[in-house]
Amino acid sequence: MKQKTKMIHGGIVGDPHTGAVSTPIYQVSTYKQDGVGNHKGFEYSRTGNPTRHALEELIKDLEGGHAGFAFGSGMAAITGVMMLFNSGDHVILTDDVYGGTYRVMTKILNRMGIDSTFVDTSELSTIEAAVKENTKALFIETPTNPLLKITDVEAAAALAKKHGLLTIVDNTFSTPYWQTPLSMGADIVLHSATKYIGGHSDVVGGLVVVRSEKLAEELHFVQNSTGGVLGPQDSWLLMRGIKTLALRMEAHEKNTAAIVDFLVEHPAVEKVFYPGLANHPNHEIAKKQSGGFGGMVSFDVGSEEKAEEVLSKVKYFTLAESLGAVESLISVPAKMTHASIPAERRRELGITDGLVRISVGIEDAEDLVEDLKHALN
Ligand SMILES: Cc1ncc(COP(=O)(O)O)c(C=O)c1O
Repeated sequence: MKQKTKMIHGGIVGDPHTGAVSTPIYQVSTYKQDGVGNHKGFEYSRTGNPTRHALEELIKDLEGGHAGFAFGSGMAAITGVMMLFNSGDHVILTDDVYGGTYRVMTKILNRMGIDSTFVDTSELSTIEAAVKENTKALFIETPTNPLLKITDVEAAAALAKKHGLLTIVDNTFSTPYWQTPLSMGADIVLHSATKYIGGHSDVVGGLVVVRSEKLAEELHFVQNSTGGVLGPQDSWLLMRGIKTLALRMEAHEKNTAAIVDFLVEHPAVEKVFYPGLANHPNHEIAKKQSGGFGGMVSFDVGSEEKAEEVLSKVKYFTLAESLGAVESLISVPAKMTHASIPAERRRELGITDGLVRISVGIEDAEDLVEDLKHALN
């Protein structure tokens, strides 16, 4: 089955009891047992809920793994995955990961004795140099946020395997429509489903898919023990989002290509960051490992004042955090999504104060280009 068909026919389709073509929302916490321990597969909704289970089966099918897990947010998903490790373990992460990932590693999980090192994972040699005796995993975000750096997942996963590390990929920006990291050797793939998977700025959720039965058992234990599960209403919304994910991703891609063509020619724009550009340092790898380059673009207008001026003049780009929704969003990462990264570290990474990030929506491309033209002029 192709991905587009799987989005409609994957997982558990409809309701066998009534014939309903959409999975019902099982708004329930507990389940009647016919005798002690004699139940129909569900005992208590933290452990398992039929609506959440349908979503977990669907994302498992889309990412091509052994089991899926739905968490209350992307951060709950990331934290859940990190709970697979123990005090004294070390994890290597992409240096410009989402600010919240950086924060949980350096402000929370460090307190639990999980140590982390952030490196430019687009350079394989820097990954290898960071491996220590207690390193247990490599966590990659690709493309990254907001600089759209690309890591070669296949090569990085092979390197991780050589050192006995698990490879974890944050696939939020690409979604399984464009990129399936497990097929490239990763062990765990995760999402902020708040973004493209939900797609309509109306739900916060996180999804994880693991490659093996062992990891599935371990993560289920963590999820059930720590309890950060997604509720049935939100699980249903994510399944509804997935039904149109393919169409939306194609629309985002087309609009983004038109915007990037415009931005690279505009004199007020100093630099455009987009993996679809032939001069992007890892354009060929992006082409090899993803079916599309995605709907996220960053561009540098040179200063904080100019960035703020652009933001104040656009009409169709909503000034907001988040990304991946039908409506176009605009932000200044240094002041918003990445504000939790210290200023000095931001400078080292190249997240300048004049960097503007846009999440291109599915409006008419001509309107979006016209809007940016007006703001930049
Ligand atoms: C790449 C990436 N991963 C994880 C997260 C965290 O997800 P959530 O906001 O759903 O907790 C985000 C949020 O912006 C993100 O962009």
